[in-house]
Amino acid sequence: MQDLGVTVAPEGAPMYQQIFDQIASRIRSGAFPEGYRLPPTRALAAELGTHRNTVVRAYAELEAAGFLTSTVGRGTFVKAWRGSEPPLAASAPPERALPWASLVSSAVRSEPIRRFLRYRRDPAPREVIDLTKMQPPDELLPLELYRRCLEHALKAHPDKALGYAPRDGFRSLRARIVEDLARRGVPAPADDVIVTTGSQQGLDLVARALLDPGDVVLTHAATYAGALQVFAASRAHIVGLPSDADGPDLDALRRLGARRPKLLYLMPNHANPTGACIGRARRAAILAWARDAEVAVIEDDYAADLELEEAPVPPALRALDPDVIHVGTFSKRLIPALRIGYVVAPAALKPHLVALKHTTDLGCSATQQLALGEFLDRGYLVAHLNRIQPAYRARRDALCDALRAHLPSEVRWQRPTRGLSVWLALPDGTDPERVFDEARRRGVLVAPGHHYAADDATHPGVRLNFCWEPEERLREGAARVAAAIAATLGRDRSGPVLDMV
Ligand SMILES: Cc1ncc(COP(=O)(O)O)c(C=O)c1O
Repeated sequence: MQDLGVTVAPEGAPMYQQIFDQIASRIRSGAFPEGYRLPPTRALAAELGTHRNTVVRAYAELEAAGFLTSTVGRGTFVKAWRGSEPPLAASAPPERALPWASLVSSAVRSEPIRRFLRYRRDPAPREVIDLTKMQPPDELLPLELYRRCLEHALKAHPDKALGYAPRDGFRSLRARIVEDLARRGVPAPADDVIVTTGSQQGLDLVARALLDPGDVVLTHAATYAGALQVFAASRAHIVGLPSDADGPDLDALRRLGARRPKLLYLMPNHANPTGACIGRARRAAILAWARDAEVAVIEDDYAADLELEEAPVPPALRALDPDVIHVGTFSKRLIPALRIGYVVAPAALKPHLVALKHTTDLGCSATQQLALGEFLDRGYLVAHLNRIQPAYRARRDALCDALRAHLPSEVRWQRPTRGLSVWLALPDGTDPERVFDEARRRGVLVAPGHHYAADDATHPGVRLNFCWEPEERLREGAARVAAAIAATLGRDRSGPVLDMV
């Protein structure tokens, strides 16, 4: 018998799948070309020391998948396979390239988008302590629970799971999202909810639905870089709001009213990057101003459920005013790879958002929506939160205790009660980019405040995330960041410089 080179391990995937995978991979690589005749099932089974039915099943599945064809009395053969043909030769480069720099739109040339390209960095080696990642670490992802829901979605709804989903998302998922919002005191009828590709798409849809070039958008002075990029892509004029301890300054809002702003973008519970929270009375006052000035309000609740203390959360803006556009996500509290977020939109706005979403992606993944719906239905989210909240609390404490021990006294910061980050406000005139460089030389990555600046008036700072790294590395990272800041401020307590990145 010809040697197929197939081996099977007693542990791991079922034997018929191992045979399937190895034969399929040889067909893909061209080792088994079109017309190649596979050995009879009995012979291969004897060679592998397995039951003949196992090989019969592997062949049957390879045939069903389109790799093989079998003819009674003749045998089993590899079907025509185009995967291994050499790629077409690239055409010769033109003498003169198109003038792309002048062809790109003014949106692409806007500062927040150029900034994104300027500060793009290569991935850091693992030994570098990364305080920039705002996503759950592998060990806090609910891999097993999610796998079960994914399998259930594919088994229970094979037709729906692999087709296009409704434009605004499956009703079943929207109903689960409504229950989840109600748990957190955010009122929303399912008809007002649109499932989006992450909350990033939610922000983009709202911006495209409301903004014309030159429209004024008000944001926190230091705000989420992805939102700045979205507003810049709509060619809006972005103005940063000064704040006090309770939130955006009301006098500044009233003054800016004269510029007829269209949109106010806020993260009331834990602003990214500063961690600022808007007080209850200030929320009501801001909404009263916005209604009076006819300004649309976006409430971005990206840090929902990332509570680190028992303290009550102030009411959502959406709970105070049904015209507020509420944007949320499952990325930070659950799994970023779902790419599932949502917008709760006033009824008059929703059809426009749905139409714009259709222009972008024809809907979110049906498979992921059904799996997430099942995850929420089974109560796995709340169980998962019970697991991650204490872990994030311990990480926050590790970082904050070490910052308290090491940071120079001029740096102002607060221990956050929710969210995943700590903002270090640097003395005026400090260049956060220098802190970034100094920190990088010491083997730790921080996010410099330039990324988040709405305009030139924004105060300098750096953001440290505590979700990604384990406690020991957070302690070490804090000490290195403190040394980097001291060095930038001209007070060298730098310790060893590692030059790791
Ligand atoms: C404040 C804020 N809003 C929205 C997003 C978008 O996240 P996603 O598209 O994964 O929901 C992020 C991501 O970091 C964020 O920080």
